[in-house]
Amino acid sequence: MLKELNQQIQEETYSSYIYLAMAAWLEENGYKGMATWMRVQAREEKIHADIFYNFIMERGEHVKLEAIDAPPDSWESPLELFKAALAHEEHITGRINHMVGVALDVKDHATYQMLQWFVEEQVEEEANVGEAVQQLTIVGKDGRGVLMIDREMSARVYAVPTSAPWYPKSGQPAA
Ligand code: FEO
Repeated sequence: MLKELNQQIQEETYSSYIYLAMAAWLEENGYKGMATWMRVQAREEKIHADIFYNFIMERGEHVKLEAIDAPPDSWESPLELFKAALAHEEHITGRINHMVGVALDVKDHATYQMLQWFVEEQVEEEANVGEAVQQLTIVGKDGRGVLMIDREMSARVYAVPTSAPWYPKSGQPAA
């Protein structure tokens, strides 16, 4: 279980890293609203990594950080980029589900309980990214439609996940 929890620090940190790379591509290509949205996403992923770190610490176990791969740095279009983000979230959902299975197998009820927040969070994560994919698919190559979506997505702001377990414990700053 501990190995899985440590691996999840890596997975969530990589998520933050790939979303930052996506934000950079979007910003460089003139999609500033979507870039803002992705930077908020990247920040949320960092918090997810922190939650796993904090949880391991609270349990008095050892945090072992793994290497982080370099993410891609270019995508064909905003649609292709958000499709890649959705595929990544589906991968993360698979990881969370796998860990829930391990927690049940080894009767680790505390970890099982903590993971329930992530089970719910993943439903929201996939829905949010999926909505962007759906809207970008609808407008297709219509530049005005893409820019309208870009403007709407600029409204996203970072919110501290006060409902999240193990946050802001272990001296974690509040924001
Ligand atoms: Fe932390 Fe978007 O999964």
